[in-house]
Amino acid sequence: MKIIRQPAVMMAWAKEQAKSGRSISLVPTMGFFHEGHLSLMRRAGQLADQVVVSLFVNPTQFGPQEDLAAYPRNFQQDCAMAAEAGVAVLFAPEATEMYPAGFNTTVTVGTELTGQLCGASRPGHFAGVATVVCKLFSIVRPELAVFGEKDWQQLAVIRRMTADLNLGVEIVAHPIVREADGLAMSSRNTYLAPSQREAALCLSRALALARTLAAAGERSAERLTAALRDFIHSFPETAVDYISFVQQDSLQEVAEIDEETVLALAVKIGGRVRLIDNGKVLA
Ligand code: PAJ
Repeated sequence: MKIIRQPAVMMAWAKEQAKSGRSISLVPTMGFFHEGHLSLMRRAGQLADQVVVSLFVNPTQFGPQEDLAAYPRNFQQDCAMAAEAGVAVLFAPEATEMYPAGFNTTVTVGTELTGQLCGASRPGHFAGVATVVCKLFSIVRPELAVFGEKDWQQLAVIRRMTADLNLGVEIVAHPIVREADGLAMSSRNTYLAPSQREAALCLSRALALARTLAAAGERSAERLTAALRDFIHSFPETAVDYISFVQQDSLQEVAEIDEETVLALAVKIGGRVRLIDNGKVLA
């Protein structure tokens, strides 16, 4: 596996591949790999000749009070895991290479998709994500890119940007990979103390509860939200950031749930660790 640090070198490598007729799939990440990232890499490997994984803890998508400095990093381990997953290139640029002096362009997707859910709790977050992903697409020129459904709103934002700007990259969605007990894998799970790790199960269990209530006939988003809020708060050290029933593509809130409704959850555990999860409620 090649490790490339410079955007210009990455671009040259990608051009070589294109000349030789080899297709590229891209998996953008912030590193500290877990099985979720690895399954995206393996999926990318099935869909193109060469897999490029970007590893960049993108400063512009973190708010001033967020965990940029503390974000978990383990470059050596990430290299070993990516190599094992069959990745051809790990592209790990420095922030000064991605945002050199004078950098002055931002890609913003409109508030229809970014005004709610994580976009409401994390102002500026999706502009940071859209801008860096747009840059990564320009540098790597992949035929396709794989994103996890774990970040449902991110996926919708990337799809919109890619279509609106004719970026010509196929966006592939990959299902959420979970721990054996149901917790959605996340690099941020490492922040959880043992008691908080237990409490973190409130998210996947809330999804299960919503499905049980829906299967019993409940369709009211308001009543489901109230039941889920009480349920989540019955776990220690939890504070709901949002519980929202949205249409799967438009991300607009719905009053009555149906087969196209996604339940999106964000919960703070121990006042510090913010976890998200989501899923369809009606099969
Ligand atoms: P990161 O949080 O590292 O996630 C990288 C990719 O892995 C994203 O597409 C995310 O949805 C996916 N992923 C994370 N946990 C997953 C899980 N449990 N199951 C399936 N997929 C999972 O998302 C980002 O980085 C950044 O915002 C990025 C897109 C790289 C832009 O900086």
